[in-house]
Amino acid sequence: MKMTPMAPKCGVEISGIQLATCSDEEMEAVKQAIYEHGVAVFRDQEFSPEDHIRFGKRWGGIDINNYFPLQQDFQEIAVVKKEADQKTNIGGDWHTDHSYDQIPAMGSVLVARELPPSGGDTMWAHMGAAYDALSDEVKAEIEGLEAFHTADHIYKADGLYAQTDMGRELRGHDLKTGAVHPVVIRHPHTGRKLLYVNKAFTINFVGKTREESMPLLEKLFAAALTDDNQCRLEWKPGTVAIWDNRTTWHNAVNDYQGHRREMHRITLSGEALAA
Ligand code: OGA
Ligand code: MN
Repeated sequence: MKMTPMAPKCGVEISGIQLATCSDEEMEAVKQAIYEHGVAVFRDQEFSPEDHIRFGKRWGGIDINNYFPLQQDFQEIAVVKKEADQKTNIGGDWHTDHSYDQIPAMGSVLVARELPPSGGDTMWAHMGAAYDALSDEVKAEIEGLEAFHTADHIYKADGLYAQTDMGRELRGHDLKTGAVHPVVIRHPHTGRKLLYVNKAFTINFVGKTREESMPLLEKLFAAALTDDNQCRLEWKPGTVAIWDNRTTWHNAVNDYQGHRREMHRITLSGEALAA
């Protein structure tokens, strides 16, 4: 197994391993690498839907996404797809998955099933590097703060997606979500401090209104993307990416209009977060 960083502070490409048949020792090394680098990319994988599910269970359990269509024959698999005639994609702005759950998903295992002829890359940004780069003043300002997260404004019947041509694909319009997390968490396995707010789901600081929270939230959202804390993946057939939702934000680049893209996602169960 060989590990090559994708960028100075985010992402690692791991070669010389088949995820479907890897040893327990390799699995442990992969987990550690993902906790540290935020995302790992694996090329040329033989990874059937059955392998995908087996891998998720072996990692430590699968969370079913409430909103995305599920693969018909394999209900643990969420289908992240955009048809050639759709304009809006899933995940087309910076976010982290499932932060609206009180025990948020650890991460995701995303497999390329159908790719556009070009484009459709995914980007990640490392929230440990983002935290490190904050000024001492901002670090002091956010020390001990908690924030409220929800997905309702995005997925409800008249929410953000419903106003786009992606609306018809999604489920869960009536769900109510909400969770409170520290603004700075410690990674459950590495102990590293991570900035844990995101543009998609973080609404306000506890004890402050949305309006009162916005100036500092906007400042943190802007600070979370630094010059050197991102990496970018160009998918190929057989590529699998596994990311850590605590350690990273991600963004699905929507630059392939007129072409179909289909990815399969298994969401890995996580643990409660603490400052
Ligand atoms: C996701 C997501 C990114 C992509 O599955 O959560 O944001 O590139 N997907 O499809
Ligand atoms: Mn996502």
